[in-house]
Parts: sequence; structure tokens; C-alpha cells
Amino acid sequence: MINIVKEDKEYILNTYNRIDLEIIKGDGLYLYDNKGNSYLDMFSGISVNHLGHGNSEIIKNILEQASKYIHLSNHFASKTVVNLAKLLVENTFASKVFFTNSGTEANEGALKLARKFGRGIDECKIEILSAYNSFHGRTMGGLSLTGQKKYQDSFSPLIPHITHFLYNDVKDLKAKVNHKTCAVFIEIIQGEGGIIEISPYFVKALDELSREYNFLIVVDEIQTGLGRVGGFLASDLYNINPHIITLAKSLGGGLPLGAMLVSKEIENVLKPGDHGSTFGGNPVACAAGEVLISEVIQDEFRKKTSEKSKYLFNRLYELQKMYPNVIKNIRGKGLMIGVDVGEYADTIKNMALDRKLLLNVTNRTVIRLLPPLNISFREIDDFIDIFRKVLSIFHE
Ligand SMILES: Cc1ncc(COP(=O)(O)O)c(C=O)c1O
Repeated sequence: MINIVKEDKEYILNTYNRIDLEIIKGDGLYLYDNKGNSYLDMFSGISVNHLGHGNSEIIKNILEQASKYIHLSNHFASKTVVNLAKLLVENTFASKVFFTNSGTEANEGALKLARKFGRGIDECKIEILSAYNSFHGRTMGGLSLTGQKKYQDSFSPLIPHITHFLYNDVKDLKAKVNHKTCAVFIEIIQGEGGIIEISPYFVKALDELSREYNFLIVVDEIQTGLGRVGGFLASDLYNINPHIITLAKSLGGGLPLGAMLVSKEIENVLKPGDHGSTFGGNPVACAAGEVLISEVIQDEFRKKTSEKSKYLFNRLYELQKMYPNVIKNIRGKGLMIGVDVGEYADTIKNMALDRKLLLNVTNRTVIRLLPPLNISFREIDDFIDIFRKVLSIFHE
């Protein structure tokens, strides 16, 4: 019998730390391996499977669209692509959408738009700022924005005229913006950076500085968007006035899809020929995305997510009381939750795996919980039961 895990190591470039499982099926919150084991999936493909695995509506839409045509190219308008764009425009600040295949490409698009916007005002207005500890992707543009040396160091030189400021530090931001700034990229909650939330004070200052120096605010909602933290977009909850929002992850219902949402005032900056993608806005991915967005825009759906978030936070606080020497901090919003367990993170992840619970670790010390938004209360209890058993091993 072919050993997929072994052959994966033989044939695939070694850039990922794989979990040594051969998954053969997903259903709801569970993944099943080739040995008959089931696993509770608490990070849903890094926040992609908002409706869990195997959602029948998403599958139906994918099959329906695939049976008509899978790909046309961007030489043609396509119904499912327009439908999804319409849903995004009608439910956000945006007036137009550009579709990509991934998050990092959405940020690339935003970089180009910001530079063209700046150069349209003054040829020196090309400076871009983003935060330390941020994550914006792995292409050279995304990587240059990402304010973490560990991702950047081996790949210099990066894109020039991109500098970083301390997240939530108004003084540092003020010291670094000026009339040459064309854009500031920001995450509402730093995801890869360890689930760190933006402060209202910082949002206010950013907004004021954007007016004073006429730069674009680009909010990277690739991880926080589409219901993950409670609002349809996280920006809806934080009183921020973006010119651009970038999305990806769950947008294509599990298929590769990203988007750059653009406000009215800058919708004509990019002209025909300025930017493009062969696959961006694939009709099948957009058909899947339509199901996802139609669900997540419902107030009732988001109300339920909020109730589950509250319940999960409370159950985690109970665990923190029981194991204060292990759980140092619990933070986040909605169903984007970081449990800081210090040096125990990787061991906890491995012990959870032995008990058929899939956890993700970010920024070395943080267990990052990103369950499907339709997780049930019972599944939250199942997660807490296993997590408690693992934590109890560390209790002195
Ligand atoms: C905030 C943020 N921006 C950008 C990206 C990059 O997205 P992708 O992996 O789809 O290129 C990620 C991925 O984790 C992300 O969390």
C-alpha cells in the first residue's frame, strides 16, 4: 500500500511542518484518517473552513458551476464572480472588488494600488508602513510588509520604501508617517503574531493621521474577516475607516480565493492593464464563496457565533483558574482565540494530537483556536474535556 506521508516527504519540497497523518475524509468539525481514527479539528485549515468540512451547500454549488464551466479567464464576465462581488459590496464599505487566488496576492494588489495612488499625487509619495509582528504573506510584497525578521532574513533585499512601526504605539506611528506615506497596512488582530488586538486609541490616531497626510488605510482582514471575530468584517466592530480591505482564507468556501475591496474614492486608480491574474476570481471558487458569504452575513448566524464565543471563553477561563501555571493569558475575539501557554505550547499540541485533538501553535507560545464558526456547544465541551486532560498533565 502507498504510504502518502512517506511519499509526501519524498516528492514535495520540504517547506511545511506536516502533521504525520493521512486524512481521508472531513465531516463537520471532524477529520478521519486511514486508520479509522477521528480528530476534532480546532483550527479548520487555518481559518478556512468556516462552515466545517463537507458542507453540502458548498459542494452543491461547486458541482453545479463546475458542470457549466470551470475556468474562462478574465477575458469574460462570469455570473458567480459578479454575484460574489455584489454580496461583498452590498455588505461592506467597498464600491468595487478585485479577486485574487490568495491572501498574499490580495496584499500585492493593495501594494500596487497604494503606490499608484501615491505617485498620482507626488512621485515621492511611495512610502509604505506596516506593523512589527504583523503577517501579510510570503510573496516578496507580502514578505516586505510582514514585520517579522524570522520570515524575512534569508530573502533580502526586500521591496524598498517599506518600514515598520510598533503595533498600537501611536508615538512611533506619528514619528514615522509623513507626506511621503502612501499607505499604512494593519491587522485588526495580529493573527500569526500571537492574537494581539488593536487598541481603540491607535485606530483613532491612525484615522486622524490618514486625513492629515492623505495616505490609504489598508486593513488586512485575511484572518479576521468574514465572521471570524463577530462582525461580518472585524473593521465593523472597531470604528476604522479603511480605503482597502484584503480578504482570503474562508472567502472561497475552501477553494483558493482572495479579494481586495476598494472604497469609492480610489476605485479608478488602477486602469485596464495595470493589474491582473489568470486564475483570480475563479468561477467555481466564487460559487463556493457565495454560499459562505450568504450564511455569514446573516445576523442570526453571527449572533450564534457570538454566543459560542462567549461560552468557549468562559470555559477557557475555568481552565485558567484550574491551571494558572500553564495558561498565562487568554485573548482574542469571537472565534479567534489565543491561549498563551508559554514554553508548553508544542508539547501540548503533540499531546493533544495523541488524544485526537488538532491544535495550532503560533508565535511559539500561543495555542491559536480557530474552529469552524458553526461549532456546536457540545463540540466545545468535547474540546474542553480533552484540553483539560492534557493541561492536567502539566499541573504541579
Ligand atoms: C493576516 C494575514 N495576511 C496574509 C496572509 C497570507 O495569506 P495566504 O496564505 O492566503 O497567502 C495570512 C495567512 O495566514 C494572514 O493571516
